[in-house]
Amino acid sequence: MKITIERTKTPKAKPDQSNLGFGNYFTDHMFLMNYDEGKGWNNPRIVPYGPIALDPAAMCLHYGQEVFEGMKAYHGVDGKCRLFRPEANMARLNLSNERLCIPKFDEAFAVQAIETLVKEDADWIPTEDGTSLYIRPYIFATEPHVGVHPAKQLIFAVILSPVGAYYPEGLNPVKIYVEQNYVRAVKGGMGYTKTGGNYAAGLKAQEEAQAQGYSQVLWLDGVERKYIEEVGTMNVFFVLEDEVVTPVLQGSILDGITRKSCVALLQSWGVKVTERLVALEELIEAAQAGRLKEAFGSGTAAVISPIGELRCGDKPLIINGGEIGPLSRRLYDELTGIQWGKLADPFGWTKVID
Ligand code: COI
Repeated sequence: MKITIERTKTPKAKPDQSNLGFGNYFTDHMFLMNYDEGKGWNNPRIVPYGPIALDPAAMCLHYGQEVFEGMKAYHGVDGKCRLFRPEANMARLNLSNERLCIPKFDEAFAVQAIETLVKEDADWIPTEDGTSLYIRPYIFATEPHVGVHPAKQLIFAVILSPVGAYYPEGLNPVKIYVEQNYVRAVKGGMGYTKTGGNYAAGLKAQEEAQAQGYSQVLWLDGVERKYIEEVGTMNVFFVLEDEVVTPVLQGSILDGITRKSCVALLQSWGVKVTERLVALEELIEAAQAGRLKEAFGSGTAAVISPIGELRCGDKPLIINGGEIGPLSRRLYDELTGIQWGKLADPFGWTKVID
């Protein structure tokens, strides 16, 4: 399929790079592609960024048939632009599609479409330290119908947003609230997918946690409310003495691309990493015994985000004196070093766009 390009006649002013925040600005162009039953995915195009007309009966507005991804383009120290493991994001998007009865797309073609769009808006990739161009591919049901069935018409869109750190704390440790009332997902549900509903399900808890001064919530398993799952926008890791543990994937949490990159990096350094059930009680005991050395989250948006406090009921667990720990720092430096082309990429994770 050939991607047609219609360039904007009114390019926007670029935002101040020192004050980007996360998800506040959007570039000049976007990618769109349609799905129509009988025709398949068709009409891939890059067009000026702008509103998308939807029928008021569009099924995504009623039944939430929507999936998305989060990835980034980085301006390297060598002036080259790099994507990080884009094929893994596209594979995960198709996995989400499968769960939400959305027709699969050609992953190699989607990576090519993203590269073409990023090249079109390459002058939007911020260059300041700690910044990047966030890429948001998403698919939503547009068929106008209010009965419940898998939509026969959908749109695949990609928009781009120059961003700084996801959390205003940057690399300073965040405070996380352990949620013991609401649940996000259960095995057999949609927890492993990136679908809007998973995030909508977390808003109430996040709002309540934020009112108490916490950045986000840490979810416990939805059945026994005993085992650690993930934070709203990141996977989690705990350093217990010289072992790193992270919740095992069982269908209720996201198979994070940053998560698997952290596991690979840690293992390449000879650090023991175990993916297993991690009970909250175990963490509390480890913290009391002085064995919980560090905790951090990982995600595309969050990168590596040290956790300085976990609030469990009325007990605050202060981790590493509320400071970033050595392993979190090393992971951040190594991962972003690879992404920004400062360090060699022995894993072949980055894809230079030229
Ligand atoms: C990402 O890390 O890319 C995510 O999708 C998290 C997002 C909800 C901000």
